[in-house]
Amino acid sequence: MVRMSNEKIIGNDLKIFDVIDSTNLYAKQHIDELSHGSVVMSGRQTHGRGRRGRVWNSSDDGGLYMTIVLKNDINTEFAMRYVIATAIGMCKAVNEYGANAAIKWPNDIVKDGKKMCGILLEMVSDSEHKNDIIVGIGLNVLNNDFDEELKKTATSLFLETGKNYDKNDVAKKAFEKLDEAYKYCVNDFDKLLCEYKNLSDTLNKQVRILELDGKERISGEVIDFDEYGRIVLKDYSGNIHHINSGDVSLRRKE
Ligand code: BTN
Repeated sequence: MVRMSNEKIIGNDLKIFDVIDSTNLYAKQHIDELSHGSVVMSGRQTHGRGRRGRVWNSSDDGGLYMTIVLKNDINTEFAMRYVIATAIGMCKAVNEYGANAAIKWPNDIVKDGKKMCGILLEMVSDSEHKNDIIVGIGLNVLNNDFDEELKKTATSLFLETGKNYDKNDVAKKAFEKLDEAYKYCVNDFDKLLCEYKNLSDTLNKQVRILELDGKERISGEVIDFDEYGRIVLKDYSGNIHHINSGDVSLRRKE
């Protein structure tokens, strides 16, 4: 498994496009040419992809669209750690600009329930059959004209702070925070989990866990997150459930 030292790695190697279909797709297709820590960025995307096959609206150049490449045979069992670390890094980055955002389990960065940043982690096998990770990050930076539907659920750094930003500065800030977070994935995941809980918008909240078809699976209170990044939920009969993020979505109880 890859070990992160104190050395700065993220973003040392940058591939920048004005427009591309999807930075995740590019990273997948060019995985053998991309080094550990390299970042693929684009001003816009024509086919931005979100989790569960959803579209990530990227036609606007107000957003930061980038994919981080983490190489060298990462144990699939630990992939969730990189999701958690990415959420922490991005949340800390936007909070340095005064966003006062939090993490909605597993990996959405939200402010008052509205999403500012989404993360799409994918495992890729390279030509040597090693497991690499690509982490797609979509951060709404300057966006201020979401369509009527998105307005209800999305926000941006600009909308939350009223300030303008140079997207390159925001990217650099993100690289710094991601470098810090990734180095704890291997040896000190407890430290990451602790930070994750401090930044959580979900911990100690009453929630409903929904199947992908929208049916409720279970509801209760979120009492913890475990070493695999699963939610630990206490249902209303007092039973404890560890739930993987893979096949469910979460709603806060009103
Ligand atoms: C989500 O659904 O919350 C995840 C959204 C991830 C979007 C980013 S934008 C950069 C990268 N390229 C993609 O096509 N998707 C990710």
